[in-house]
Amino acid sequence: DLERPEVSALLKWYDANKRSLPWRDQNNAYYTWVSEIMLQQTRVEAVKPYFQRFIQELPDVAALAAAPEDRLVKLWEGLGYYSRVRNMQKAAISVMEDYGGRIPEDFETLLSLKGIGRYTAGAISSIAYGKCVPAVDGNVLRVYARLTENREDIMKQSVRKSVEDSLKEIMPLDRPGDFNQALMELGAVVCVPNGKAKCEECPLKEFCLARKHGTVEELPVKAPK
Ligand code: ADE
Repeated sequence: DLERPEVSALLKWYDANKRSLPWRDQNNAYYTWVSEIMLQQTRVEAVKPYFQRFIQELPDVAALAAAPEDRLVKLWEGLGYYSRVRNMQKAAISVMEDYGGRIPEDFETLLSLKGIGRYTAGAISSIAYGKCVPAVDGNVLRVYARLTENREDIMKQSVRKSVEDSLKEIMPLDRPGDFNQALMELGAVVCVPNGKAKCEECPLKEFCLARKHGTVEELPVKAPK
C-alpha cells in the first residue's frame, strides 16, 4: 500500500530498534492501560519493576476493580501521584459495571473513563485494538515540531489537536499502534531535548526541516505561562 517515505522509514527503524518492554506486543488492553498510566510521570526503566509487580498481583480489570485501597497504595508506593491509581480503579469499576469487564476500544468511550485523557485513550485504542487514532504526548510533540519546523506553542491544546489531525492523515491503517509507539520511542531515545538530540541516528533525518535549517535545539517552542 501507499505509504509516505517518512512513515516507512519510521516503522522500519522501530522494527529494528524498539526496546523490549514487558507491556509491549502483548495485545492486552489492560497492560497497555496500566503501563501508559505509570509512564505518565515516570521513566521507562523505573516503571518496569512496578509494572511487573502490579500485573502479577492484579492481573486484570476485575482484580483492579476489587483491590483494597491499602493494596493499591502499596503497589504504587514510589511512583507518586496516587490519584493516578485511584482514578484507574474508579475506571476499572466502571468497566466492570458498564462494559462487562472489557476495556472499551473506542477513543471517545475511553475518554469518558476516569483518569483517561486524549493521550491515554489514543494509546489504548491504537496499541491494544489497532484503531487509527493518534496518541500525542510530549515526546511526539517534540518530534513533530522539529520534523515540520513548527514554531507554535506546544503547550496549547489547539496546537496539540492540530498535530493529532495531521498525524491521523499519515497514519498507516495497518499499523497505527506501532506508528504511535515509534514516534514516542524516537522522541524518547533519539529526538531528545536539552542539546542531546542524536540527529545522525535518526531515521527521519533527511526529512527533518529543523535539522535542515539548524533549528533542532530551538524546538519545540513552549511559551511561558
Ligand atoms: N512512553 C509512554 N508510552 C510509551 C510507549 N508505549 N512506548 C514508548 N515510550 C512510551
